[in-house]
Amino acid sequence: MWESFFGFKKTPFSDSPDTKQLFSSAAWQQVNARLEFLAQHHGVGLLTGEVGAGKSTAARVFTAALNPNLYKILYIHFSSGTALDLLRQIALTLDLQPAHFRGDLVRQIADAVVRLNQSKKQHPILICDEAHLLPHPALEQLPLLLNFDMDSSRYLTLLLIGQPLLRRTLSLQLHEALRQRIGTHYHLEGLTREELDAYLTQQLKAAGVTQPLFEDTARQGLYQATKGIPRKVNKLAVTALRLAAERKAPIVDDALLLDATSEAFL
Ligand SMILES: Nc1ncnc2c1ncn2[C@@H]1O[C@H](COP(=O)(O)OP(=O)(O)OP(=O)(O)O)[C@@H](O)[C@H]1O
Ligand SMILES: [Mg+2]
Repeated sequence: MWESFFGFKKTPFSDSPDTKQLFSSAAWQQVNARLEFLAQHHGVGLLTGEVGAGKSTAARVFTAALNPNLYKILYIHFSSGTALDLLRQIALTLDLQPAHFRGDLVRQIADAVVRLNQSKKQHPILICDEAHLLPHPALEQLPLLLNFDMDSSRYLTLLLIGQPLLRRTLSLQLHEALRQRIGTHYHLEGLTREELDAYLTQQLKAAGVTQPLFEDTARQGLYQATKGIPRKVNKLAVTALRLAAERKAPIVDDALLLDATSEAFL
């Protein structure tokens, strides 16, 4: 096992990082500031970024830290299906028995949202992850949910998360009603070159290894191959460490990184 070869106490570069493994890049802090703002002021937020940049992780970590007595997280990971399916799924996250007709469903959801706010004093945050995959008619339903009352924007917070395509989709005339409601937007980029160095050190340390395992040239190669996108960094770093262990090499140099890059299939 490559982990024992390097003396790791646990596997570094995890797919589901724990608090010690979470890296607070400048962009990560910017996302958090916006999510904080959204939770405080409600409304609609948009979080976009390249594949693997950390969008879902940021939303998951942020919402996990919110007081569950004050917020109810409705997490939707909806990628296909009709507008009606989307509304049904939202109803289900609200523990409702979905009505058959669209108008009834919208009312049903709206009533539940108001009840949550007024009776339970819980504010719902609806998170639509992978929203770039939402068919147009489904996306068009969302303003209806924000519109059900004179002052409804304060009852439901909506966070749309998706790949860069989502920005283009939302720029269409068809989605103006939704676009106009977006109060905060952030586009999450990869780690900078300096942050990548700090990330590698942090990951190794959190897994129990303090000596550097990547030569300078290998770190440069890692940055070039991944542009600092965390999922790519993790995949390439693990591949490189595994190859190094196989070859009994105590450190990853640029030649080894090159081999790892073709194997990692980024
Ligand atoms: N701040 C961070 N600290 C440590 N690891 C991170 C961080 N952000 C992301 N990661 C790592 O990167 C991986 C990809 O993150 P995530 O799944 O959140 O990306 P995404 O932007 O939602 O990707 P997709 O577009 O495919 O949905 C995570 O599994 C996690 O291991
Ligand atoms: Mg994601």
